[in-house]
Amino acid sequence: MSDLIFRKDGTAQGVAKQRLIESLAKPDKRIVYDPYAENFVLGAGIIKLMGHKLSVWLTKKFTPGFHEHLISRTRFIDDLIEKCAANKVEQYVILGAGYDSRAHRLKLPSRVKIFEVDQSEVQEKKRSKLPDDIPNTENVTYVSIDFNHQSIKDQLLNAGFGQNKSTVFTLEGVSQYITKEALTSTLNELAALTQNSNATFFMSYVNRLLREDPKSCFGKGYLKAEKKAVLIQNLAAKSGEPWISLYSAEEIEDLLSQNEFSLTENKTLADLNSEYFTPIGRTIPENHIFKLEHFVVAQSKSL
Ligand SMILES: C[S@@+](CC[C@H](N)C(=O)[O-])C[C@H]1O[C@@H](n2cnc3c(N)ncnc32)[C@H](O)[C@@H]1O
Repeated sequence: MSDLIFRKDGTAQGVAKQRLIESLAKPDKRIVYDPYAENFVLGAGIIKLMGHKLSVWLTKKFTPGFHEHLISRTRFIDDLIEKCAANKVEQYVILGAGYDSRAHRLKLPSRVKIFEVDQSEVQEKKRSKLPDDIPNTENVTYVSIDFNHQSIKDQLLNAGFGQNKSTVFTLEGVSQYITKEALTSTLNELAALTQNSNATFFMSYVNRLLREDPKSCFGKGYLKAEKKAVLIQNLAAKSGEPWISLYSAEEIEDLLSQNEFSLTENKTLADLNSEYFTPIGRTIPENHIFKLEHFVVAQSKSL
């Protein structure tokens, strides 16, 4: 893909595209609704013309379960954020926010201050494409960072982050793109920032088994699982954003524990299928389950 088209935002567009596709389904047949996704997706007009069914069918031809995987990740975090907001959380930090529009599409109480953290180029593009009348902009602060080279602690404090306020952090679809050192130092700094407050931390990670035992990262009977595993990683590399860091469950649990977080949930699409898709008649068959990425929630142990 040309650098001129995807200036650092190729993967952010990719996720927004799946949210756009899902938003085209009828209200009682969708699990996520993101009315802003279309602003960020190249070729959004064509996708809208094709509609939900045809677009999902096309994605399925490429990789069954890929669309459902990404939108269930989004829904899982939406539910978490709404739960945290109901429990009086005061700050929400979206790490690697990309074209995430939760700040605007979830009806969060005005007490929740939102910090969107990402590369400055992606943030500039995002801000130039957001509609002028979008809700809740007054509660959003943009914080630019390169996780591989900058301190999240300094950036957040400079942006007005409150160290005594209860906070939820999400790192959605990002850990595979940054170094393991960057993830470790980010977690170290988040732990230091929240040592006197309650913190909830969500992250997704790609299972290292994708390289060692690819079949185990897909449902039983998934066609050409090994080939798909290679294809997906090649596509990411070709778009200029290769998957450089994959993790085992033990590594993630240790990393969280060393930073005073205890893991409370670790899910994949296989777990969320019955929760999200079955109730709307879209149960994903076992041979279409795509579960190479895990969704993890952890709570700070500090208080
Ligand atoms: C797959 S996108 C996910 C975006 C968003 N979380 C979502 O799910 O819609 C990955 C995001 O990570 C950001 N990212 C990747 N490497 C980064 C780095 N070194 N520093 C800061 N952000 C980075 C990208 O700019 C992009 O927005």
